[in-house]
Amino acid sequence: MSAVVPGRVPTPSSPPPDVVRCASFELVVTDLAASRAFYVDVLGLVVTEEDAETIHLRTLEEFIHHNLVLRQGPVAALAALSYRVRSPEDLDRAVAFYAELGCRVERRAEGFARGVGDSVRVEDPLGFPIELFHDVEHVERLAWRYDLHPPGALVRLDHFNQVTPDVPRAVAFMEDLGFRVTEDIQDAEGTQYAAWMRRKPTVHDAAMTGGDGPRFHHAAFATHEKHQIVAICDRLGALRLSDRIERGPGRHGISNAFYLYLRDPDGHRVEIYTQDYWTGDPDNPVVTWDVHDNQRRDWWGNPVVPSWYTEASLVLDLDGNPQPVVARTDRSEMGVTIGADGFSYTRPDDAPDALPSWKQGEYKLGHQL
Ligand SMILES: [Fe+2]
Repeated sequence: MSAVVPGRVPTPSSPPPDVVRCASFELVVTDLAASRAFYVDVLGLVVTEEDAETIHLRTLEEFIHHNLVLRQGPVAALAALSYRVRSPEDLDRAVAFYAELGCRVERRAEGFARGVGDSVRVEDPLGFPIELFHDVEHVERLAWRYDLHPPGALVRLDHFNQVTPDVPRAVAFMEDLGFRVTEDIQDAEGTQYAAWMRRKPTVHDAAMTGGDGPRFHHAAFATHEKHQIVAICDRLGALRLSDRIERGPGRHGISNAFYLYLRDPDGHRVEIYTQDYWTGDPDNPVVTWDVHDNQRRDWWGNPVVPSWYTEASLVLDLDGNPQPVVARTDRSEMGVTIGADGFSYTRPDDAPDALPSWKQGEYKLGHQL
């Protein structure tokens, strides 16, 4: 176990590993059968391999062994966020990079999960369990198997979202790791509330959200089109599982993506996400949103439910014990958005009291929650 140490993470002299993309994540779940029913029977993820203790799942366009590992355990938590690196030598770079920072590092030639070879797991300086691998078993890419695609087919893993108490510290570390900011949220005083960072040329592989942490906020799977997200909502309704829907569907301002947030049987949050934009040019412009802009989180101005700001999953250290959670000391996004001292705006020139009365009431209700 390694507690989060305050202060900027030093920049290692060792070069970082070349991270290609977010590739998979491992969740500890308390009822494997219930989780299987949610991820396989309802959401339609494909079982690559399973036994009594673990289920390895993938999306329909994936060719590596898995994007999600569900593992039966006593406490619901995140066990790993996994990234694919470009070459086997990048694992040597990863070991040197993290060891220089004093992080706990483990390397297993046989991998930590099925279908993956030589792998490194670390407790990173932000307190998250991170895995890196290159060697993988290829499996059938089911992109053309439309006979197997359900309405709302999940085709790719898109990103992770992590809760961390000090967003600028997290951003600086991730930049040292080679990630680049595409969008963020700030206020006029320069407080940074969240940031979106990428390796692959989309809006993000990892978002850093300000809050008590380290905690796991969500992972996101992509669909091809937004109507497929609506199809997932319809299916959840038909199955009388509408209480799995936490927020949405809607359009994000940040990332411009269409979204839906679900909670799995253990409360782990999963986003369904589609249609963000290309960010691969070297001069890709960074978009900074005002924390008072009520279209940043939802382009249609719908308020964010308080649970979305406050609830997240524990994360495990490399021994399988939950990492201690450190409180955020900077201002919180929910507090400035719906707190007593701050109204959000739709048009930047609006005075706070120019909000329609019914909208003011809505934010006050949110504050009471
Ligand atoms: Fe997300």
